[in-house]
Amino acid sequence: MLRLSLRTKIMICCIGLVVLLDIIVVIFVRNHLSNTLRAEYIVKGHNMAVNLAARSEHFVLTDELVSLLQLVKDLKDSDVDITYAYVVDRKGRVLVHTFGGGFPMDLIGVNTLEPGDVWNEKLLDTVEAGLVHDIAVPVLQGKAGSVHIGISEHRIQQTISHFTLALVAIAGFVLLVAIVLAAVVSWMVTQPVRHLIKAARKIRDGELGQQVVAASKDEIGELVGSFNQMSKELLKQHKILEDRNRRIQTTQEQVAWERDKLRTIIDSMAEGLIFVDTEDRISLCNESAGQIWGTDASELLGKFVYECPSAELCSTFEKILKQAKQKPGFIADHALDLRHGRYLASYSTVHGEDGRYLGLVFLSLDISERVSLEQEQKRLREQLFQHEKMVLIGQIAAGVAHELNTPLATILLRAQLIEQQTDKNGDLSDLKVLEGEAKRCRRIVDSLLGFSRRSEGVISRTDLNGLIQESLSLVENDLTLKGIKLETDYSRNGTTACVDSNQIQQVLLNLVANAVDAMQGGGYLHISTRLLPDKSSVAIQVTDSGDGIKEDILNQVFEPFFTTKEQGKGTGLGLAICQRIVEEHEGEIKIRSQPGQGTTVSVLLPHAPMEVATDE
Ligand SMILES: Nc1ncnc2c1ncn2[C@@H]1O[C@H](COP(=O)(O)OP(=O)(O)OP(=O)(O)O)[C@@H](O)[C@H]1O
Ligand SMILES: [Mg+2]
Repeated sequence: MLRLSLRTKIMICCIGLVVLLDIIVVIFVRNHLSNTLRAEYIVKGHNMAVNLAARSEHFVLTDELVSLLQLVKDLKDSDVDITYAYVVDRKGRVLVHTFGGGFPMDLIGVNTLEPGDVWNEKLLDTVEAGLVHDIAVPVLQGKAGSVHIGISEHRIQQTISHFTLALVAIAGFVLLVAIVLAAVVSWMVTQPVRHLIKAARKIRDGELGQQVVAASKDEIGELVGSFNQMSKELLKQHKILEDRNRRIQTTQEQVAWERDKLRTIIDSMAEGLIFVDTEDRISLCNESAGQIWGTDASELLGKFVYECPSAELCSTFEKILKQAKQKPGFIADHALDLRHGRYLASYSTVHGEDGRYLGLVFLSLDISERVSLEQEQKRLREQLFQHEKMVLIGQIAAGVAHELNTPLATILLRAQLIEQQTDKNGDLSDLKVLEGEAKRCRRIVDSLLGFSRRSEGVISRTDLNGLIQESLSLVENDLTLKGIKLETDYSRNGTTACVDSNQIQQVLLNLVANAVDAMQGGGYLHISTRLLPDKSSVAIQVTDSGDGIKEDILNQVFEPFFTTKEQGKGTGLGLAICQRIVEEHEGEIKIRSQPGQGTTVSVLLPHAPMEVATDE
């Protein structure tokens, strides 16, 4: 669409209005003038005709046609508007006329007067004179005929044309004046508008606070006033907005800083933190939580808790969420055993100010280390207790053994003396029993002394394979006799340890003795050595295919005086002595057994690698 400026529009409107007015005025005035003029002409013609009729009465009655013709001609010549004039008698015959070349036949009987007619006018289209207003007036009330005067329409038209031309010229002048006026007015009217536009553009480009001078007090002046006020208000609001924006930006920066701080705190938390929203989706999660779930924290974000990789956690969560949604202010905690550790899990619901449920916070703390530390502490406490118990028992045993040793030696000596003094036929059976029991008592006392005695032997780097072979050579025959098959599996290297050979041999013999006792009907005895993968210790394993040990007494076998053997067969000190010796060597002894499936005793001794000779 054509874009016109306000000035052009005002000009177009003004000029258009003036043109329209001009046209209307010209048409109206022309029409009015032509009608008036025509009527004037006809009236003039009528008057002339009446005058002619009056003056020709006499000539018509006296038949003075020459005078009548003169009269008619004079009349015609007196006025250029008269095209022709003629007089007819009562019978309609033309008496005189002003036509030079004979009376035109087409005029005869065209405009006749009826009796009583005062006058008559008719527009005729004649060959000679074109359009003519024929005005007929009776002479002597029609009794002496009538006179006709022809007023030329062409003349009327010509006059009208002159008037019209003058009118158009005036209208043109008026239009010219109107154009100039419209240009001036539109310029005056649009000038403040142009200033307003200029100021508005500057405001748009950021130059706020523009003011326009109001030249008038009309509506435009009011508009300029309103604009100035609006511009001022805009500047004020802009400043307020800028200030507010600055504050918002500062707040946003603070919020971002706080958010980053919070994020850093959450990410550096040792506890796993997960927030589950109302749709059961994880909307917050830190790295520690990711580790607990066995995946990357970013993988968990946005997921449904039920979709997460840990099936154990998913089912736990399902239950907890159900309870949490039902109970406002729900708080719960429990230990969580997962494949990769033990955790302390705590759950608490989050509610909005209106009490609406917003989600669930899940905190999980890895307590695997704490638990193992506690277990280790418990084990150490028990070990200490055991050790103290052993020391006490050892002290008591040493005291008892010492006290019993002397009377036992006396009993034995006296029994042997009585045996020597009694003749050969005498009954010595009671005495033999006495001697046997006393000897057994001495063995027990020896064991007690062995248990309570601290090692004072010589510690030396020893090849354990050789020591085992040496010890086994002492019992090989006994094993064969009892139907026990011996199998050995020695590690080729790295089986050296710093030990008291005698004491370790005592340990080995005790373990073999126990194995033999457990295999009354014969069996297999397997002895092996090996260096642990971390090369810290050498392990000696003594495995038998004997009766095995019941689970409920397995943790008692290292206790002093614990025995399952019948009265007089065992002291229950064998394994206790083994444990003491091994611990004195800073080693470890463990037993593994199942009833009916044999027993394995493992002795771990610190590895002491052979020193490699170097050339200095
Ligand atoms: N290899 C084994 N097979 C089955 N049970 C065993 C074995 N070693 C030990 N035991 C059980 O452990 C108990 C304690 O053993 P320990 O060597 O301390 O005492 P003991 O053998 O009973 O007596 P002692 O060693 O004085 O002869 C035994 O009575 C036996 O029940
Ligand atoms: Mg034993």
